[in-house]
Amino acid sequence: RRRVLSGIQPTSDSFHLGNYLGAVRQWVQLQDEFDEAFYFIPDMHAITVPQDPKVLRERTRRSVAQLLAVGVDPKRATIYVQSHVPEIAQLTWVLSCLTGFGEASRMTQFKDKSAKSGTDAAGVGLFTYPILMAADILAFQVDSVPVGEDQRQHLELTRDLAQRFNKRYGKTLTVPKPYIVEEFAKIYDLQNPTAKMSKSADSDSGLISLLDEPKRSAKKIRSAVTDNDRVVAFDRENKPGVSNLLTIQAALTGRAMDEIVASYEGKGYGELKVDTADILTEFVTPLRGRVEEILADRAHLDGILADGAARAREIASDTVAAVYDKVGFLLPG
Ligand code: TYM
Repeated sequence: RRRVLSGIQPTSDSFHLGNYLGAVRQWVQLQDEFDEAFYFIPDMHAITVPQDPKVLRERTRRSVAQLLAVGVDPKRATIYVQSHVPEIAQLTWVLSCLTGFGEASRMTQFKDKSAKSGTDAAGVGLFTYPILMAADILAFQVDSVPVGEDQRQHLELTRDLAQRFNKRYGKTLTVPKPYIVEEFAKIYDLQNPTAKMSKSADSDSGLISLLDEPKRSAKKIRSAVTDNDRVVAFDRENKPGVSNLLTIQAALTGRAMDEIVASYEGKGYGELKVDTADILTEFVTPLRGRVEEILADRAHLDGILADGAARAREIASDTVAAVYDKVGFLLPG
């Protein structure tokens, strides 16, 4: 059976447009293309940096509600919270023992994140973060992992660890492939269009939060940084701001890039911004209400997560049993 899996951290009140276009949108489509889909909220990854416990719990539920609101379907996908599946942590330990210290040190996300706080302030959890992520994936024997460009290196490590385990102990783990849609794998900050859109940017003026007031998001699009030229063209190198707006339009409308660009012949950046703002408004406007509705029925939401955790544990516990056996752990009683 072919399986797809991915996760999104519960570290803000709203997903941003990069999360959606780079990853979550693909999840919705792939839940139909694969025999089984696993989508989860990595709350254990979230605590690699300090979190307020009350806020974390709230954001975990909100994240699930957002997945449902954009079309992830509990009938077609197993939806769960990472900490509900303790087998993931069990597998993490075994994989940690297979990961080289130098190999882990080369992960650019740790280098970036610890550069801000200094390595003394960064937790060991932030350092071993990619190994937990490898366990997330390998516990489920999945074929495909839809993510944005920034997760590519973590997927490489995951593949290396699976191959290493299989070589040392015999074929046990499925080696997964990243599913990265080049066109949409990196959505850029509207004010700083050579940096990826991210909730950890210094200012949020270039960030579109899906659950923000639609008028506010439309205004951010209309104030996006472009360039001093006046021709609408797709050219990431020389026109990163314009290309980002065109990419957002292409993603949200499903239209081909050439066709969109052609439609701006003789028109300027003003029209491009207004149109993109309108398209975004149409997409985000119904989302807030849907999310609040889903959150209002907490029993239903918690039921989905309980079912998801039960199904997820069935599969992950099979993997952990096989792994424990292969590494030579004595089977209990
Ligand atoms: P996270 O929570 O930071 O982001 C969720 C997804 O959104 C993608 N993404 C982007 N895509 C395009 N443009 C952007 N500007 C942009 N910003 C974020 C991310 O690539 C990601 O796919 N470590 C992961 C969560 C995780 C995970 C996993 C993913 C934990 N375990 C196992 C897959 C499989 C993360 O922090 O994503």
